[in-house]
Amino acid sequence: MLKNKDNHIIEPLFSRDLIEKRVSEVAKQIAADFKGKKVLIIAVLNGSFIFCADLIRKLGGSFEVDFISLSSYSNMTSDGKVKLLSNFNQDLKDKNILIVEDIADTGNTLKFLCNLIEESNVKSISRCVLLDKRAARKTEVKIEYSCFNIEDNFVVGYGLDFNGLYRGLPYIGVLKIK
Ligand code: XMP
Ligand code: MG
Repeated sequence: MLKNKDNHIIEPLFSRDLIEKRVSEVAKQIAADFKGKKVLIIAVLNGSFIFCADLIRKLGGSFEVDFISLSSYSNMTSDGKVKLLSNFNQDLKDKNILIVEDIADTGNTLKFLCNLIEESNVKSISRCVLLDKRAARKTEVKIEYSCFNIEDNFVVGYGLDFNGLYRGLPYIGVLKIK
């Protein structure tokens, strides 16, 4: 349990070891499903940078990666409007795309990104999330790969932040403000 001067309490949820184990398992599944295919990973910044870095090192050298920066959250709530902060810099036509996202919450971000990518006549789109917060879903979105299901709590660590804080924690925890 971490408590700092802002009265933020972080209750550990998934340990560094457990995250490592699940990321390895999911990477194995992805590697098997895409064997022999060329895949471009599109990682959603900022939250997925640590997850994606770990995942891609377990996938080996044949996966390409590019980044998109999207934002919909301020403080602990999603305002539902997804903003495109910066776009990928390549033609996606005829590519197998694997979106890598930190968390599916309302689903708005993934939906927005899938719609954007579909405009490019890609060969396929699949989605991989570190965390799936099903109970908070407001729009249905398919998720092929997920490391953990979580309840409707605000979580931080392993890339996920609260107003920029806590991305560097090696574990994932529930943030409570007392
Ligand atoms: P939506 O609602 O569009 O949310 O599925 C996706 C984006 O919102 C951020 N998000 C969180 N960030 N703890 C965080 O640190 C959370 O519990 C949380 N829930 C949503 C995240 O950036 C995600 O990409
Ligand atoms: Mg995000």
